[in-house]
Amino acid sequence: MGYICSEETQELLEAVRDFCDNEVREQSKEYDRTGEWPKEIYDKAIEMQLHMLDIPEEYGGLGLDKLSIAAILEEMAKADAGFAVTFSVSNIGLKSVFLAGTEAQKKKFCDTIISGKFTGFALTEPQAGSDAAAGRTMAKKDGDCYVLNGRKCFITNGGVAGIYVVTAMTDKSKGIKGMSAFLVEDGTPGFTYGKHEDKMGIRGSNTCDLVFDDCRIPAENLLGNEGDGFKIAMQTLDVSRAFIGCIAVGIAQRAMEEAIAYGKERIQFGKPVVNNQVIAFKLADMAIQIETARQMVAYACTLIDMGRPYSKESAIAKAYGADVAMKVTIEAVQIFGGYGYSREYPVEKLMRDAKIFQIVEGTNEIQRVVISNHILK
Ligand code: CAA
Repeated sequence: MGYICSEETQELLEAVRDFCDNEVREQSKEYDRTGEWPKEIYDKAIEMQLHMLDIPEEYGGLGLDKLSIAAILEEMAKADAGFAVTFSVSNIGLKSVFLAGTEAQKKKFCDTIISGKFTGFALTEPQAGSDAAAGRTMAKKDGDCYVLNGRKCFITNGGVAGIYVVTAMTDKSKGIKGMSAFLVEDGTPGFTYGKHEDKMGIRGSNTCDLVFDDCRIPAENLLGNEGDGFKIAMQTLDVSRAFIGCIAVGIAQRAMEEAIAYGKERIQFGKPVVNNQVIAFKLADMAIQIETARQMVAYACTLIDMGRPYSKESAIAKAYGADVAMKVTIEAVQIFGGYGYSREYPVEKLMRDAKIFQIVEGTNEIQRVVISNHILK
């Protein structure tokens, strides 16, 4: 455990570890095979209040600091990355609401989560991925409503959330200054779910298109002012990216543990394979990378907790953590040899799960845009 946490967090962490060991780790294998949404696992996790870690105490949540949340998410990710992603992404919208929302919006969002629901954050569109400003979803003011038309894609928790933060253009002629952000509730007429992604990894999480067809929402669902949407989205992602790095570290940690356990058992040429320096050094390299990535996540979270600038550090934690997860899981498969390629053993799933972290919440190439913008300005 590489995070230095309070005694209170340690206790919660122990409970989360037990839960993940008993209720998630083995069970997630079948959900990975079928791609089915593991509702019963999530129901139990919600009973444990794991969906409200980030909600401030005054709004009825656990109000944990970001470092504690990272420690807990890593534990979840060691059991199943898709499971951790569901909770991590559910916190993204919360960040937007606490950045720009009114008291009433904050309360509504928190109450929805506390009632046992997840949330979603919808920026990406089919033609607006890395180029987030190219969104075509429109929001037209009509009396005391906005009317939304368009489609969002690759939305984590799409289809299983109770409420979403959705960006849409209120004035396309103004470019990014014409993008706004709204709260949209599940069940709003004109709001439906589209294609459900059949993903390579993190299959215990849900990813779906959101479709808006003359969807009328109350004007009071606008977050901040018209034109604030791009900034809200960027500031939100600045925080959430550190947690993507954190989940990636959890995958890498699990892969290293699996490789060590297997390498001690696997006898070749009359001795355990870990007794070969070439394998021992692979494991040492894993440890170096994992611990470094974890400490970068911890540093970014500490800066967030302290209210100091963290955009660059969060991007580094995300990009580095994801690259480490990819490298470590590939090496873990290598140490397992032919068995590593078999679905019977756990490491091929870890390798499939790892890949998305180099893509999601801004590709690692985009993180390098963010980082270089910071160091060059
Ligand atoms: N905080 C505050 N303001 C910011 C900012 C930040 N982090 N980043 C940019 N801005 C502001 C800039 O200051 C600038 O403002 P001014 O015009 O007033 O000077 C404005 O935004 C435009 O900035 P850029 O010129 O840098 O914008 P850009 O169009 O070149 O794009 C980008 C920058 C970093 C590439 C951005 O588009 C980006 O992050 N792309 C990746 C998007 C992404 O991560 N998508 C994943 C979304 S997750 C999702 O939708 C699904 C899900 O399930 C989670």
